[in-house]
Amino acid sequence: MTFSSLPGPAAHEVQAHRGASAIAPENTLAAFRAAAEAGAKWVELDVALSADGTLVVIHDDSVDRTSSGTGSLGELTAAQIGALDAGAWFDPRFAGERIPTLAETIAALGELGLSANVEIKQHKHHKSLDQLVHAVQTDIAKRSAQTEIMISSFDPEALNAMHALEPNLEMAMLWGRPPEDWADQLAAIPAGTIHMHFKALSIGMLEETAKRGIKVRAWTCNDPVQLISFWEAGLTGVITDNPKLFLE
Ligand code: G3P
Ligand code: MG
Repeated sequence: MTFSSLPGPAAHEVQAHRGASAIAPENTLAAFRAAAEAGAKWVELDVALSADGTLVVIHDDSVDRTSSGTGSLGELTAAQIGALDAGAWFDPRFAGERIPTLAETIAALGELGLSANVEIKQHKHHKSLDQLVHAVQTDIAKRSAQTEIMISSFDPEALNAMHALEPNLEMAMLWGRPPEDWADQLAAIPAGTIHMHFKALSIGMLEETAKRGIKVRAWTCNDPVQLISFWEAGLTGVITDNPKLFLE
């Protein structure tokens, strides 16, 4: 059976979660290359500040799970983080991959023809929201003309602060299951997009968001069958560890 005859996402609405993280180590340049090779146009990536205020691309607030090192991001400089191996834990073939800075990643995305959903992580070691959003603004300002950027976060304050700096960027509120008053919360950010867990999707909510012109993308779905009934109801896109599954 092929999926091509079934409802599915538009090709430019498939976002590779942490890069193609089913194929290569998450949030590394290898994962972003793998996403491009799979035909994805967008990658989702997570950013946080190092101890010395550089944005690095990593999901957790420590390097323990995804690198050869140990320690909290709040205790490690960008140089220390950049010296770690971030590939061998996933597969020895990827030994030598690094935890990239956002600035390095933005440059690589330009070469790969990719756009990015930059997820701003709020960690305990972050001292200042102002510092965080200004760092994001500085790094994304260096993107190539072909690279589109959107911002997402579980933290509405981060979206608010980012929106004040970059009012033209698409902003997505991240929820597992959206709260009952999702429309009011979204209007207050303000954001025009919801990124929600695919298991919390409902046809009723998609009809309501469609009426209001709100986009909804579903994370993190690695089984196209799970989403079939939602595309016609107005689901905009998917965030997946394996973009190949949605692009073949
Ligand atoms: O953008 C969706 C997804 O990345 C949110 O969860 O924990 O994988 O960053 P997480
Ligand atoms: Mg994320």
